[in-house]
Amino acid sequence: MIPELSNASVFMKDPQRVQEILESMLKAGSNTLQVISDFDMTLTRFAYNGKRCPTCHNIVEHSSLISSDCTEKLKELLNYYYPIEIDSSRPVEEKIPLMVEWWTKAHKLLVDQRIKKDMLAVVVRESEVMLREGYQLFFNHLHEHSIPLLIFSAGIGDILEEIILQAGVFHSNVKVFSNYMDFDETGLLTAFKGELIHIYNKREGALLNTGHFQELRTRPNVLLLGDSLGDLNMADGVQDMENILKIGFLNDKVEERKQSYLDTYDVVLVKDETMEVPNAIMLYLTGNK
Ligand code: TMP
Ligand code: MG
Repeated sequence: MIPELSNASVFMKDPQRVQEILESMLKAGSNTLQVISDFDMTLTRFAYNGKRCPTCHNIVEHSSLISSDCTEKLKELLNYYYPIEIDSSRPVEEKIPLMVEWWTKAHKLLVDQRIKKDMLAVVVRESEVMLREGYQLFFNHLHEHSIPLLIFSAGIGDILEEIILQAGVFHSNVKVFSNYMDFDETGLLTAFKGELIHIYNKREGALLNTGHFQELRTRPNVLLLGDSLGDLNMADGVQDMENILKIGFLNDKVEERKQSYLDTYDVVLVKDETMEVPNAIMLYLTGNK
């Protein structure tokens, strides 16, 4: 098998099944492969030197774009709703209205701050956001092999794009589904566009984008990367799926959540801040072992 799957951070409920999926995907060839990944805390680091790294929302929250009063209010929302997001004892149905509440309140607070579009690049540059170690290989290799990468994020699309742009990896094979800001003709934030994507409605988001999955119908093999149980539905729009390998980063509240991750993700990466395992799998599937 792939040697990196023996790393100390890797946990699998059924290694034999992982092996079978990988073999079947390898046999089908990398021209049948597509990658679907979450962004915050999946492609970006959860922590660095013991300190939490920011999500797209946190970048704005900690920036000079908004008043200290607004920062405070966003922090209060985070402190209240984030523990609910990751609480494995509450059913998802119960969490959905609360997540809608969180995102709606946060976006309303941001819209009231008259944020300027041309400042986004500056706040991203000044932020402490970090893509996971090994991200260059991940993005560049997928691009070189013309494998489509869909980044499916409940974060903020404008911030996310700026992060991968500044990192030099916003290649032509990358497509983003996310919450995008809407600016008026003077470049001031007035609203968020389209249907809200929150942590537990990625299935609905996927089903709204049938055009994208229709274009990729010759790629029925999926590598999925996420860090939340809500990310498991990101591939629900894929047509005539043949194989899917789900890789889940378990960053926080490991003991409480480990079993639910093992039951739903094929490969679970516990407190692993790198792309080492996804990269090894990607190299295997593209014949570069
Ligand atoms: P993701 O789908 O790219 O992982 O983005 C969703 C993350 O954003 C989720 O873990 C919660 C986080 N978030 C904040 O940090 N602050 C906020 O105000 C909101 C609404 C979400
Ligand atoms: Mg995430």
